[in-house]
Amino acid sequence: MTAAGDGGPAATLEPALDEALAQAAEAAAGVSRRPEPVAVVIFGASGDLAARKILPALATLAARQALPDGFAVVGVARSEIGDDEFRDRCMAAAGGEEANPAWTRLVRQFRYVAGDYGEDVTFATLAEVLDELDASAGTRGNRLYYLATVPSMFGRVAGGLARHGGNRPGPGGSFARLVVEKPFGTDLDSARRLDDELHQSFDEDQIFRIDHYMGKETVQNVLALRFANAIFEPIWNRRYVDHVQVTVAERLGVEHRGNFYESAGALRDIVQNHVMQVLSLTLMEPPATMEANAIRDEKVKLLRSVVVPRADQQVEHVVRAQYGAGTCGGEAVPGYREEEGVDPRSMTETYLAMNLAVDNWRWAGVPVYIRTGKRLADRVTEVTMIFQRPPHLPFAGQLTRDLRPDSLKLRIQPDEGISLCFGAKVPGPTFRVRSVSMDFSYQQAFPGGTAEAYERLLLDAMTGDAMLFIRSDEVDQAWQIVAPIQEAFAFGEPPLAHYPAGSWGPIEADRLIEATGRQWSNP
Ligand code: NDP
Ligand code: BG6
Repeated sequence: MTAAGDGGPAATLEPALDEALAQAAEAAAGVSRRPEPVAVVIFGASGDLAARKILPALATLAARQALPDGFAVVGVARSEIGDDEFRDRCMAAAGGEEANPAWTRLVRQFRYVAGDYGEDVTFATLAEVLDELDASAGTRGNRLYYLATVPSMFGRVAGGLARHGGNRPGPGGSFARLVVEKPFGTDLDSARRLDDELHQSFDEDQIFRIDHYMGKETVQNVLALRFANAIFEPIWNRRYVDHVQVTVAERLGVEHRGNFYESAGALRDIVQNHVMQVLSLTLMEPPATMEANAIRDEKVKLLRSVVVPRADQQVEHVVRAQYGAGTCGGEAVPGYREEEGVDPRSMTETYLAMNLAVDNWRWAGVPVYIRTGKRLADRVTEVTMIFQRPPHLPFAGQLTRDLRPDSLKLRIQPDEGISLCFGAKVPGPTFRVRSVSMDFSYQQAFPGGTAEAYERLLLDAMTGDAMLFIRSDEVDQAWQIVAPIQEAFAFGEPPLAHYPAGSWGPIEADRLIEATGRQWSNP
């Protein structure tokens, strides 16, 4: 890897050394922060998300020495497990004692409160435990409450905490924050009700709504690509961009979450949150600073510019579909209606494609195509900017038959990177031109690997940096975009299409984009 100063001679550095130097410089500049002492309280401590994401992320932060000295976790859930069993689960999440001595040391302080969120005694007991931890673990009155439980309990937990003083820091503390997992409501009305409930107990600046896509390095890199470089922004507009595609494709089906997915579907599970987040970062105006509200102001402005067709017009813009049996990754898999927890006559969409328009100075007339689905041919999330064709091609027609429009692909996952696709002359006696790709790979440039989304988000919540968290008005605006689609679905429009598991989706989605002479950019 090469590092060159201001026009000075280039020096060759080992990647690891290079990263270490960068981190040391960040630390010296105060850019990389260590949180203040804090107690992290997990509501839903016995659940799936805690075991699979939250505890492993905290354990990794411990291994990286990113947690403060005064640190403890308190688990709260109904299951009658005690401190010891909870500590065992915390160790299991870290892959055992030897794997992570720093975590092992911390876990000894961890506590578990068994109780129902509907009962006041749960919050009274929690308050006592937190006071004890301030003394024994040095958590100094700072609290981070994580709502990793069923959404119907979010309001109750916030209220229970407030009744017992939990919405304010404990003695000597400087913060009490509430981290909220999605879904933020199931439609516009319920999202607003939830917000009202949370705001009765916590101020907006105490609430950290998680969309784990915002924790992905490659999603954050959309901002770096656009605003740390001079070469992309001049062409990032309607004069050069023909259209934009956002793909969130999964190979997995609904796994053990059939029951949950039945009431969610692709629209609520992915489009209302993850897609809207990626889209707003990709299309928003440059923020004045990287301060949380500067960025969130721009995101919400962009979402407000999205044209929202009425419910009776949605049939022209949306395709919804469900997977049938097929072959995925070489394995025969059942159709959605055969999955556990799914109604055999289910009308829930496992796939959604749509086009939308953004009515602002930068993007007027540039269609945005979105698609997401489960049991598709591959797991891939990417944003593709497809540029306009040159105004005139001087080469004979057949010499450019393999030339696609130039494009810039932001590969969010799994093969993280960026590809620029453009035309190049094929060696030989004629002027044949075909598309080639120039690739940037995260893996190669940063061999240390990228952090798990939850690690970054938890650290930010502990340090109080709200930049990657979703503000209340963003959630509201995203629901406003989705609401007429939900309304159309309720009337059975558009009709539910079908696709075999392992394909790239239904033929109807191809027709949606091909109607304007364009094509999905499949990996
Ligand atoms: P689970 O059903 O696995 O866990 C729910 C947790 O909440 C359990 O610990 C349960 O305790 C506790 N709980 C439920 N009701 C009560 C109650 N009345 N009193 C006390 N405890 C209660 O859910 P997940 O972990 O899957 O999901 C949690 C949240 O995270 C949800 O909002 C979900 O949408 C969101 N999410 C989950 C993802 C995932 O991959 N799992 C991904 C993204 C978001 P007990 O079992 O002991 O009764
Ligand atoms: C979750 C959805 O929010 O995101 C899941 O509820 C989906 O259905 C998951 O599988 C996808 O996340 P990722 O990080 O694997 O793209």
